[in-house]
Amino acid sequence: MLGAGYLGATHAACLASLGLRVHAVDVDAGRVAMLASGRAPFHEPGLDALLAEGVSSGRLTFGTDLHVAAETADVHFVCVGTPPSADGHLDLSALWQLVDDLGPLLREPCLVVGKSTVPVGTAARVRDRLRGLAPAGGDVAVAWNPEFLREGHGVADSLRPERLVLGVEGRHADQQLRALYHPLVAAGVPVVSTDLQTAELSKVSANAMLAGRISMVNAFAEVCETTGADIGDLVTVLGLDSRIGPDFLSPGLGFGGSCLPKDTRGLVAQGEDLGLPCVARLWRQVDAVNQHQRERTVALAEELLGGRCADRRVTVLGAAFKAGSDDVRDSPALDVAGRLHDLGAAVCVYDPAATAAARRARPDLHYALDVLTACRGSELVLVLTDWDEFRLLDPVAVGEVVAVPRVLDGRLLLDPDKWQRAGWQLRALGRAIG
Ligand code: UGA
Repeated sequence: MLGAGYLGATHAACLASLGLRVHAVDVDAGRVAMLASGRAPFHEPGLDALLAEGVSSGRLTFGTDLHVAAETADVHFVCVGTPPSADGHLDLSALWQLVDDLGPLLREPCLVVGKSTVPVGTAARVRDRLRGLAPAGGDVAVAWNPEFLREGHGVADSLRPERLVLGVEGRHADQQLRALYHPLVAAGVPVVSTDLQTAELSKVSANAMLAGRISMVNAFAEVCETTGADIGDLVTVLGLDSRIGPDFLSPGLGFGGSCLPKDTRGLVAQGEDLGLPCVARLWRQVDAVNQHQRERTVALAEELLGGRCADRRVTVLGAAFKAGSDDVRDSPALDVAGRLHDLGAAVCVYDPAATAAARRARPDLHYALDVLTACRGSELVLVLTDWDEFRLLDPVAVGEVVAVPRVLDGRLLLDPDKWQRAGWQLRALGRAIG
């Protein structure tokens, strides 16, 4: 496993649990030491147990030396990060660095399998560059096997995926990968064998479809808010249509994280690069609708505070980009908290898991270790991440500590009747003023 970040570490532990011998390499010695002790350097349910089991069985090892991996493995999974750059293209520098380091070490026939998210056409370029550098030359095969795992569900999504996508050139690589994933194939996981380009595109397309759904539902939510229609009932109606289905229809502050925003913007950049302006326009609009949710949340907060944020005490419940995660990358919640701070509000943030990461990203905000401390003296509480802890809040207890019982529900988590009965002024994204 080349790269032991979120994707590589999870995939390594899962493959080891299937009985394979896995050596994972990363440049970060601290991360490697932690993983080698059987602990994940990030929050992922079930992963620590798999890591500990893999390490103690001897099937799972970690290191920083690429030579060990290059000389001993038959299959090399490429799991390096491909973060977005400012212009929307992906930053592939870690990928090309790895290719340049790995290529000269490949002396025996082997299969290099990309898992990182890349623009279409990258796999073929990786193949050509590796073959040019490797002593094994044309005996180095390249495949692409994208990963669809969600943060917070990484282990289950890896061991019981909804599909395996194998982008291959020729039968041998296909057979090698099917053999490697044999326990999953035997358990009935559908396998789609395809070409390299389709495999690369399937990852980006799946994320973009999800992003598009969320932006569509949020556009409907804004119409509901303006017309008095009920967004909750509307998504129930939509979800009961079997062609649409009920998942990924939760309205609110929109999507964030390291994947959906990056892939949506990546499609804008690819559409432009490929001379397909209509494609670029579609995904630019999905991104714009998503960003608009943050802007209108800030505007609504300002309106609730009587038009002025400066020196007002505000509580933000939630910093993670979604419940079940400690990740704050492109987090809508933390973004809104930061914007309110920039408008002069004194913002106190509470999150059940992401406080440490949020503090590193936005050290200028205040943080509390529990909800009641975060809400003490507050003039407006914003609920911005969909943690169950917030859904289950007792409005009476919270009402006793705030200065003004006023709440903005950015994830449609709170029961409006319950909160209003407890004396709260409640506004929710997507709901007209009650
Ligand atoms: C996403 C995809 O779901 C995975 O299949 C994919 O493998 C992964 O990206 C990746 O590319 O690595 P993830 O970023 O972990 O997974 O998060 P999601 O569960 O997809 O949620 C993304 C964002 O959408 C969150 O901010 C969430 O709050 C928001 N969301 C989700 C909504 O606003 N409404 C919904 O109905 C669902």
